Amino acid sequence: MLIKSQSGPSLLIAGAALLLFGACGSSSEKEDGASLKLSVLCTVEETWCAAQTAAFQQATGVATTFVRMSSGDAATALRDGKDDPQFSVWWGGSADGYVAAQADGLLEAYVSPNAAAVPTQSKDADGFWTGIYVGALGFCSNTEALDTAGLEAPHSWDDLLDPALLGLVSMAHPASSGTAYTALWTVMTLNDLDEDATFSYFEQLDANIVDYTKSGSAPVQVVADSEAAVGIVFAHDCTAAIAKGATNLQLTFPEQGTGFETGAMAMINGGPDAEAARLWIDWALTAQAQEVGAQAFAFQLPMNPDAKVSELSVDLDSIKLVAYDSAAAGEQRDALSARFEAQFGPKPES
Ligand code: F6P
Repeated sequence: MLIKSQSGPSLLIAGAALLLFGACGSSSEKEDGASLKLSVLCTVEETWCAAQTAAFQQATGVATTFVRMSSGDAATALRDGKDDPQFSVWWGGSADGYVAAQADGLLEAYVSPNAAAVPTQSKDADGFWTGIYVGALGFCSNTEALDTAGLEAPHSWDDLLDPALLGLVSMAHPASSGTAYTALWTVMTLNDLDEDATFSYFEQLDANIVDYTKSGSAPVQVVADSEAAVGIVFAHDCTAAIAKGATNLQLTFPEQGTGFETGAMAMINGGPDAEAARLWIDWALTAQAQEVGAQAFAFQLPMNPDAKVSELSVDLDSIKLVAYDSAAAGEQRDALSARFEAQFGPKPES
């Protein structure tokens, strides 16, 4: 097994990587001596994408680049590039999107030896996608804006329909964002999968929406900037903003239950640099790799049980979760997103 020569601390880290991945037979050079490279389609926050790819490059010597896209755009990019894939792996974003991409033949199966510790419901049985983190939806409120509207922070999905919140609720568009699609499927779940009841809820909510954003985390900034009073977002994105100093934000959860995501990753069908892609997937499942997020203000719960959990991560046992079925959500993703676009307008371009 060859490893690209590095100096100083990098060499030590590369050595540690060898120990970590020894069982998988991976290396930072191909057997013919050509250096490995990797291009990652990344669906978490840009800062985490940068930190994660830099950590991988340092650990393995594989030259790694990334492009950040929201889930819906990532799926479109993969579909459009199906005949000549540019990405080796898709990393991050809700499993729903991976289920839909798998159905379109966009993913390649790979069962990493390191996936054994991932719970059955958090990975595809054939290795088409594997879970790396978990995060729950919450309501991220601007306390000053709520005071002005004379409201308490919301504690139920129906609280968001209050006429006092007219033009004061922000969420992303489900056709572009995995976060917003998680909200759509959560309301589906709370309505026993009754699609018309779900769309009737969103019809009422639409009256209060200031604007649908493209990215799932964007409403946090909209709310922090007082352009809305409440954002429907993943809790960790609100927590990150609070940790960075947005002291006017408050996080609450709906008492009847909230949805959650299994953040996933997969190899791209026919993508370049398959050897490096498998090396990435093996590494991304290690405890060390799953501790990079918290250093980049990403407070999702790591899937690896040995990874340290940040004290800023939400304890899922402290909130009520709905029985969120990623497989069913993924199967209906295209149809429900199309209905949402037909009823509430197309996904935002930017
Ligand atoms: O910001 C990180 C994150 O919330 C991830 O936890 C999630 O998988 C991803 O964003 C979803 O992004 P989007 O809603 O833009 O598709």
